[in-house]
Amino acid sequence: MDKAQQDALKKAAGIEAAKLVTDGMIAGLGTGSTVRFLVDELGRRVQEEGLKFTGVTTSRRTQEQAEGYGIKIVDVDDVDHIDVTIDGADEVDKNFDGIKGGGAALLWEKIVATNSNKIVWIVDESKVVDTIGAFPLPVEVIPFGAGHVIKKFEAKGYKPVLRLDADGKEVRTDENNYVVDLHLGRIDHPHELAEDLINTVGVVEHGLFLNMVDTVIVGDPNGPRVMTNGNK
Ligand code: A5P
Repeated sequence: MDKAQQDALKKAAGIEAAKLVTDGMIAGLGTGSTVRFLVDELGRRVQEEGLKFTGVTTSRRTQEQAEGYGIKIVDVDDVDHIDVTIDGADEVDKNFDGIKGGGAALLWEKIVATNSNKIVWIVDESKVVDTIGAFPLPVEVIPFGAGHVIKKFEAKGYKPVLRLDADGKEVRTDENNYVVDLHLGRIDHPHELAEDLINTVGVVEHGLFLNMVDTVIVGDPNGPRVMTNGNK
């Protein structure tokens, strides 16, 4: 699949998911290239159809895009609930376990997701996999002592790589932390791994989102396909 085809599938999933946002709702807005299409469509509806909703964003990037359309954005602590959060994902398997954080927004994404009544992911079909882990697992790490955390990950065979930008500088998250990507190849025991990562001092959060998502909207060449998680 080339990029144009992939973008078309992402866009179709984003437009489909935008239908879930209705007047008066509080909606969590994720981060990434697929969510950009979602926000474009929500912005269009706000401007052309008078849709009125309040957004809670998972990154400064998404906040800027949404506010550019006149979408009202509030802080996550200024709402008592979030009706639905729509976000992208890097991989998702048939158990609805997924990897997120390719765009370095995993911490805010997980905070918004865990405070949402319903979580929806929008992905193109290439993200649906048998076993997660081919996509490097992002881990958000405090800069102080990050070198020691990376050594511990190396000793465990996690194949960590500190994420750098195009200029060779450490990527910083919206919380000013580093991202370490674990090149695991496949993750057979995601719950054990999640437990190990979150118990490592210096780790703020990891990109394993295990059985959290309610619905996945998959951009498919035959039209958006919906996967519903029956185990939630
Ligand atoms: C952001 O940190 C990520 O979790 C994204 O949601 C994820 O990487 C999907 O991004 P794309 O839609 O750009 O593939």
